[in-house]
Amino acid sequence: MKIIIEPFKIKSVEPLRFTRRPQRDKILKAAGYNLFNIHADDVLIDLLTDSGTAAMSARQWGGMIEGDESYAGSRSFHQLEENVKELTGFQHIIPTHQGRAAEKILFNIVGGEGQIIPNNTHFDTTRANIEVSGAEAIDLLPPEGADPRTTGNFKGNIDLKALEDLIRRHGRERIPLTMLTVTNNSNAGQPVSMENIRKTAEVSHRSGIPFFIDACRFAENAYFIKLREPGYQKTPVRDIAKEMFSYADGCTMSGKKDGLVNMGGFLALNDDDLAQQARNILVVTEGFPTYGGLAGHDLQAFALGLDEVLEEDYLKYRIRSVTYLGEHLTDLGVPIFQPPGGHAIYIDAGAFLPHIPAHEFPGQALACELYLGGGIRSCEIGSVMFGKTDSANGTFEPARLEMVRLAIPRRVYTKSHIDYVIECIGDVYQRRDEIRGMRIVHEPPVLRHFTAVFAPL
Ligand SMILES: Cc1ncc(COP(=O)(O)O)c(C=O)c1O
Repeated sequence: MKIIIEPFKIKSVEPLRFTRRPQRDKILKAAGYNLFNIHADDVLIDLLTDSGTAAMSARQWGGMIEGDESYAGSRSFHQLEENVKELTGFQHIIPTHQGRAAEKILFNIVGGEGQIIPNNTHFDTTRANIEVSGAEAIDLLPPEGADPRTTGNFKGNIDLKALEDLIRRHGRERIPLTMLTVTNNSNAGQPVSMENIRKTAEVSHRSGIPFFIDACRFAENAYFIKLREPGYQKTPVRDIAKEMFSYADGCTMSGKKDGLVNMGGFLALNDDDLAQQARNILVVTEGFPTYGGLAGHDLQAFALGLDEVLEEDYLKYRIRSVTYLGEHLTDLGVPIFQPPGGHAIYIDAGAFLPHIPAHEFPGQALACELYLGGGIRSCEIGSVMFGKTDSANGTFEPARLEMVRLAIPRRVYTKSHIDYVIECIGDVYQRRDEIRGMRIVHEPPVLRHFTAVFAPL
């Protein structure tokens, strides 16, 4: 059969609340034209993030009842530990409440003034945790990976030549570890090839530098390798994932993505001394090493999610449904970051609204329009999030790209929900010339996208 269907049937449903355009006009105005300020009940299709928004399976919900809430030595922790060890081969599994907590612990130990951490592209929380420690976070994405218009199988890859140069200049003394984020969230969810993972490990290890993976979307990345990298078509995706981890010395993980849970994370690594230091911090900041900020039932659901996420029928449906959205938008002429990524479609708002300059925030204007048009919540990833405005000097530095991200929660929406999204975006595209830019009325000193207040121009 050619049609790929959702590999599940629905046992429990959550109603959606429909709103009309005049209502949404009022809601958006009251929210200061910031979609983060809108009550989730007023959103019809929520594509703000794929993080922590997955639907758990009946098996996971059932498993939660069996979760062991013991403070020390919880059976659920040992189940998670066993599953992660089997998958990653790492010796020490340190549970945390989410991914950034694992990052905080890791960079607390290896970061610090003068240190440099290279990555294909650091996710914001990774960058923030590195910078808070006093170290420098460096992105090494080759130009062809960053271009939204070029096609390519592995546009998430790190620039190996640039990595070698960086290591040659600074060496082991200043580079405590190298990293790869799979898939590369901050570069439109583009995958990283096995060859790039293996070579990053080789280049790092040659200079005695440990290599870590930011593994949030490891299963989606593994499936892309199966689809696109020569030699892997017949390899079970679980074996591909294991091979990815086999090159690394450790990983940080947010279970809120490919753990198929609403909360959870871990730090996993081989170095005994580093693990001891990490557990010491964990006890003070997260909790005892066998729960690390999570309830026993969270640990249980996480252990099961890591197993389910590697089911090939699930991954086939997952990657195909995101691609389906991307292909249909492309057919309508909507400019998107090509090719479609693993967890999201990124609309190129700069190309969608060429009459709106970066300082009038085309991404924000488009995200608002998608809400007004069809109750769809998306996320601006452009000059609101990454641009810098200095009102004292009247200067403005735009972001590299003006994007609107449509992140697809796992196992939540059906094909007809996605068809609705396509229709709505198609409508907005038809009347794109009428869309006006935005101005910022008020902004906080940091992370302005969360709480800034806007007004249409
Ligand atoms: C690539 C990547 N790394 C780290 C994180 C942080 O994970 P968490 O939100 O669980 O703290 C995220 C979250 O979106 C992510 O996408």
